[in-house]
Amino acid sequence: MVLLEKTVDVSRVVQFEEWEKLAKENIDHNAFTYIQSGAGREETLRSNEEDFRKIKLIPRYLKDVSNVCLKTNILGETLPYPFMIAPVGMQGIAHRDGELATARAANALKVPFIASTVTTYSLEEIAAELPDTIKWFQLYWSGDWEITASFLHRAEKAGYSAIVVTVDTPLLGWREKDLTNGYSPLKVGKGAGNYFSDPVFLQRLKRSPQEDSTAAAEEMIKLVLEPKLTWDDIRFIREYTSLPIIIKGILHPEDAKQALNYGVDGIVVSNHGGRQLDGAISSIEALPAIVEEIQNKIPVLLDSGIRSGADAVKALTLGADAVCLGRPFVYGLAAAGQEGVSQVLQNFIQDLKVTKSLT
Ligand code: FNR
Repeated sequence: MVLLEKTVDVSRVVQFEEWEKLAKENIDHNAFTYIQSGAGREETLRSNEEDFRKIKLIPRYLKDVSNVCLKTNILGETLPYPFMIAPVGMQGIAHRDGELATARAANALKVPFIASTVTTYSLEEIAAELPDTIKWFQLYWSGDWEITASFLHRAEKAGYSAIVVTVDTPLLGWREKDLTNGYSPLKVGKGAGNYFSDPVFLQRLKRSPQEDSTAAAEEMIKLVLEPKLTWDDIRFIREYTSLPIIIKGILHPEDAKQALNYGVDGIVVSNHGGRQLDGAISSIEALPAIVEEIQNKIPVLLDSGIRSGADAVKALTLGADAVCLGRPFVYGLAAAGQEGVSQVLQNFIQDLKVTKSLT
């Protein structure tokens, strides 16, 4: 794969569509398509954005907005802004520095970062770039319990302060465009950072990844997703970590209730950016019934379709404690590495401030 990585001046890039266009121009076609596309007919991908347009803000005026506070508290930690970087795997397809570039940009602005299981760089390398901000680790909970336990142990040791368990991916969504392109970043080892550095995984291999990276990537692919998992398996994660557990991918209020029954510490309302079940409800449409079920007992985050400060304020107004950004920062990364991510984040913070003040 050829990464063109032209240097682009992004200091005046503001609009989501412009970032998307720059990303498309700057990286490999199949990699861009992998990032941009959704599952199936992309109905959910579209509703994620469209459903935000159906909700309108009604502002109240003549209140002092000279010093609007954006801070929020989640699980005993103070977030400077009510948003986080969503876990996005395989960022090495967008830029050579992958998650390291994103982490450096997030750290400088103190934006909390969620590291995926399937990162190009290892969770330890990523954590080292995040000394000044909150970091959580997203777990794809493998059927191989020893590897899962090893990841949990490593995440805790590296200083991650919560485990985000993604539950909407018992298997990969039907991603028509990637199937057409015959493209998977996992096959070329772009999401192998945590596996190829894991002592338990390395023991399982017949030959080291240095000797045979294709065979190692194939072994890894067998382990990433596990369709047999059920709610009862949450107990295993509890046994192996003392960190708070957040379930990502909740769309049904009954699952929100289950999350409470199983004593989890938080949830993320998400449809994985329309990449898993096509035809699924948009996150913003799903939010009110879930907030109603949770009754402020645990934090509720939301992602999928957040493109602007107004989108975030709508989600917060409807009861989310914070939101997560996905594609917007990935496009920044593809367009201009760390500088691109930084610009996307700074714009988002300013937009949030303006929107909150005007509301
Ligand atoms: C993702 N997402 C994701 N989620 C997760 O739990 N683990 C992962 O490894 C990934 N990987 C990933 C790769 C790419 C390229 C994308 C675009 C997304 C989903 C992500 O965390 C988040 O739910 C969505 O990106 C939110 O939707 P928007 O903001 O992209 O619309």
